[in-house]
Formats: sequence, C-alpha cells, structure tokens
Amino acid sequence: MRILGIETSCDETAAAVVETTGDSARPWSVRSSVIASQVDIHREWGGVVPEIASRQHVADICGVVEGALAEARVLVTDIDAVAVTRGPGLVGSLLVGVSFAKALASAGSLPVVAVHHLAGHIESLVLEHGELPMPAVVLVVSGGHTSLYFIRRPGEYRLVGQTRDDAAGEAYDKVAKLLGLGYPGGPAVDRLAAEGRDDAVALPLPRFTHADRNAAPSDLRAGEFAPGVRQMAEFSFSGLKSAAVRHLEKHGPGNVADFCASFQRVVVGTLVDRLFAVAIALGAKSVGIAGGVSANRRLRHDAGARGERERLPVFVPPVLLSTDNAAMIAAAGLRRLARHGASALDFNAEAALPITDSGGDLH
Ligand code: KG4
Ligand code: ZN
Repeated sequence: MRILGIETSCDETAAAVVETTGDSARPWSVRSSVIASQVDIHREWGGVVPEIASRQHVADICGVVEGALAEARVLVTDIDAVAVTRGPGLVGSLLVGVSFAKALASAGSLPVVAVHHLAGHIESLVLEHGELPMPAVVLVVSGGHTSLYFIRRPGEYRLVGQTRDDAAGEAYDKVAKLLGLGYPGGPAVDRLAAEGRDDAVALPLPRFTHADRNAAPSDLRAGEFAPGVRQMAEFSFSGLKSAAVRHLEKHGPGNVADFCASFQRVVVGTLVDRLFAVAIALGAKSVGIAGGVSANRRLRHDAGARGERERLPVFVPPVLLSTDNAAMIAAAGLRRLARHGASALDFNAEAALPITDSGGDLH
C-alpha cells in the first residue's frame, strides 16, 4: 500500500509518499517528503497571518504534491490512497488540503483518510523508531499544542491532559519576540540558552491556583484517568509568559543568553517532570516527545537523562520529522486506514478537533 499524505494545517504546505513495509515492527517507509515553508513570508508580520497562509497554500499545493510524487519516482496512478490533515489548525489553511485531497481522491477513485494532526505527530515517532514499547505516554509539544497522550496499543490515542492556556512553543515564540530574536523564536532561544546561565533569572514555575485546580479539566472523557493523573498532565504557560514580560519591562533583558537559559530551564523542567510523572503513574513502558518543540536540545537531553534514571526508553523524532510535515500524516493515515477503513467524502476541515482512537473521527 502506497499513500500520499497532505498537510496544510498551519504555515507549511507539505506532501509525502509513504509505503507499508510488511514488517509489523517497522510498518512504514518514507519514499518522499516535500515541505514548502511560509516562514519567511510570515516573519515580516511577527507570526502566522491566517489569510496569507491559506492563499499561499493554494499557490503551493499543486507543486508540492508533484514534487512529492517526483521525489518518490511514482506517478499519481501508482498511489493507492490519500491521507490529509482534517484538524486541528487554521480552518482556511486546512480547507486547502482537505479540498485538494478530496478532489484528487474522487478523480482517481481512491480512498481518502481524514487524519488528526496530533495523531500525525505521534506517528512520527513510529516512522523513525518503529513501534514503541506499549503502553506509551507521548508528549506532543508545538506552537499550538502541549498535550499528553496515553497509548495502550498502536493507534489508540487517549488524551490525559493538555495546556489550559498557551502552548510551550507559543511561550518560546513570545519571549523571543520580546527579546527581538525574530520568528519563530524557539530555535533562537534554544541556541542562545546554550551559552547562558540557567539560574541567572528567577522565573516562577508554572503552577495552578486553587480555582484552577477545582475547575473541571477541559475536553476529557470523565473517568478515564484518575483525577490526580489528569492534574499531573495539565500544563499552564501563561503565568510564566507574563512573568517574563514583567521582568523584561522592569529590568530589561540584561544578558540575553542568561535570560533564555533561565526561561528554558523552567519550561523544559515542567515538561519533563509532568511527562515522567504521568508515564510512571500509568505504568508506561516507553516515553515519546513529538512536535516542533521536541527539536529543543535541552528537552532532548534532559528527557534522555531522566529516562535513563527511571529506566524508561525515550523516543524523539529527528528534527525534520518533528516540525510539521506530511510523512507523519501519511503514516497516521495508513494506521487509520488499517484500523477503521477510509473516510466518507463528506468530512470537513475542523479548526478544533478532539482526538479519538479512530484518529480524528470525532463525536
Ligand atoms: O509542530 P510545529 O512545526 O508547528 C505546530 O504545529 O505548531 O511547531 C512549531 C513550534 C514553534 O513554536 C517553534 O518556536 C517551536 O516549535 N520550536 C522550538 C524549537 N524548534 C521549533 N522550540 C524550542 N526549541 C527549539 N529548538
Ligand atoms: Zn504540528
């Protein structure tokens, strides 16, 4: 089975060809992966402008798909199915990929599979490392998400908890902007942090107030996980972001590398602590980290070190598979096709899409 994956949920137009291998331990292999990034266009505005993003997807999608077919040395008639990100993301951007995938599928009488973007990030781990020891706990951490999933069996994604406010990548991008480091800021903060002292600036650890704790966790199916575990899996980065803003207003950046290192220590410390607390509480046999922020060097290093201490193997994708790409969407599409079959052609793009173990067939 050879599938074409399409991803247009944010500011990357991506297409990829992925094949099944017949080996259940390493089920997929990437034939091609093409990404047209809009980052240079949005940099001028300091962040993604949704209207510009969707127009750019329209301009790029045909060339990107042709590029993916050419790189894989296949014709469109050699494709057996089409997988596309249905959500979550910017709805105008998602619509470009969804419409393209449906049109291609109907023209070629191919099955189409609607994929949840975060299922894609999770499956990027399997693309690189093969099936993870199960059960696994996976942290998906990007510009739009900070979420922890429990995976009892391959393809069964259960949300344990997520951020109540900002995503970790969003906090990185905000701090970088305040420091004049440009967009997207995560990689710049990461680079500078390596040269700074991480105890130079006292920033607060993200904590919840009593009111926060008493509020019902959002978007969770009641009773699936014990309340204590759900609480461990919740994040909050808006307080840290405000503290960083206040500090910079009051004291100025001072040594920028020290500031970046101190900020990064708090963010990475929180991510690693909660990931491992949840993994241990749920008896996980492995831990994964996926999404754009998983490219962060300190996060990789600290999670690896903690994994050794806790005797839990830690899996992280290579940088090219950690930020948005279509190979991961193709992989999640193959998983979903095998488990649940094709999607009916009347699915639509969904800006806010809860994950289910069917990989995005919600409600
Ligand atoms: O997964 P992704 O490409 O797109 C979303 O789905 O959001 O993630 C992009 C995010 C941005 O916020 C970017 O600043 C962050 O990932 N990022 C990093 C690093 N590389 C990318 N954050 C921290 N350290 C990095 N090395
Ligand atoms: Zn993403």
